[in-house]
Amino acid sequence: MPKIRVALVGVGNCASALIQGLQWYSNCEKEEDCIGLRHLFLGGFHPRDIEVVAAYDIDNRKVGKDLSEAIFAEPNNTPKLANVPTLNVIVHKGPPLDGLGEYTKRVIRVSNQSEDNMIRTLKENDAEIVINLLPSGGTKASQWYAEQALAAGCGFVNATPNFIASEEAWARRFEMAETPLAGDDLIDQVGATTMHKTLLRLLATNGVRVTQTYQLDVGGGNESLDTLERTKDIKRAVKTESVESALPYKAEVVAGSTDYVDFLQNRRDSYFWIKGTHFCNVPMQMDLKLSTVDAPNAGSVLFDVIRAMKIAIDKNMKGPILPICAYAFKRPPQKTPLETAEKMFSDFIS
Ligand SMILES: NC(=O)c1ccc[n+]([C@@H]2O[C@H](COP(=O)([O-])OP(=O)(O)OC[C@H]3O[C@@H](n4cnc5c(N)ncnc54)[C@H](O)[C@@H]3O)[C@@H](O)[C@H]2O)c1
Repeated sequence: MPKIRVALVGVGNCASALIQGLQWYSNCEKEEDCIGLRHLFLGGFHPRDIEVVAAYDIDNRKVGKDLSEAIFAEPNNTPKLANVPTLNVIVHKGPPLDGLGEYTKRVIRVSNQSEDNMIRTLKENDAEIVINLLPSGGTKASQWYAEQALAAGCGFVNATPNFIASEEAWARRFEMAETPLAGDDLIDQVGATTMHKTLLRLLATNGVRVTQTYQLDVGGGNESLDTLERTKDIKRAVKTESVESALPYKAEVVAGSTDYVDFLQNRRDSYFWIKGTHFCNVPMQMDLKLSTVDAPNAGSVLFDVIRAMKIAIDKNMKGPILPICAYAFKRPPQKTPLETAEKMFSDFIS
């Protein structure tokens, strides 16, 4: 198969897990041996067909380093899962813009190297897809990188909760540039939002009337620090809207993040509470806790998104690719029930 040539924006924890995962699964041949992947082959593509050809960051412990080294540099704190050989991809400096907030300024050290001409680098390296893995507070920075992708004729994947694929104006611009777009806010493999929606759907299908429910989490990655300062409200809005859509009736729903706990490292603890009534209005309550490591939780979904975007590129598709957005993102351009999203995606990739 031809390689899928991607550029990474933000060499943080997610990028680290993605690169380590490419190494981990590179020699895996049988579906049954590939624990942790949803699809070993997707559209005929194996994870080893994904090649990172460019990468961008602003931290001086990452800029100018080979990507294999940069992914393990502080303040990244996701676990080491694989030995990654030299990749011969040097991390370029991007413009900081709003990539760092008041809290993350304490942990990110901005490099004084000069900024790269990204459009030229993307073209020189034949990059096909730009993947936005910036901190969620980097709204202007996300938009700046989306502009670069447009100008270089690359597809764009927005893993952050900034509104790009779900914004009509951006959608139209990618359509006009005849290049595909996917987003916004990646869904995790074992994600609290999906877990919450699935539980609510199960209860509602069984005739339970859920009246109140919340899902709150604490994490120790840089992203949780940024969320605490800058994106708590937007994350709460996106997650709550997504969870509400799982119930066929109105209930009081809150879903969001609560705090940053540094010693958790890249771990995330999510708490669920559900209250409702069942037969003869008898009350029921449920308390659950889910513990995951954040960045590896994005790996399998990112593998699927990248390969599905390549299918879209090969089919000359443009603008938001709805089956990918619905399957892999919390805020797609159109709200879609989980089962419909699954069906749309499996039809698309087959
Ligand atoms: N499971 C997951 O981890 C998951 C799931 C869904 C969405 N996301 C989203 O993915 C994004 C990345 O998450 P993460 O945990 O890797 O974050 P992170 O904070 O570990 O990494 C962000 C990286 O971006 C760099 N950066 C900051 N400003 C920049 C700029 N202007 N240009 C280039 N680089 C810049 C930082 O130095 C850092 O290396 C977040 O927006 C998060 O919400 C992650």
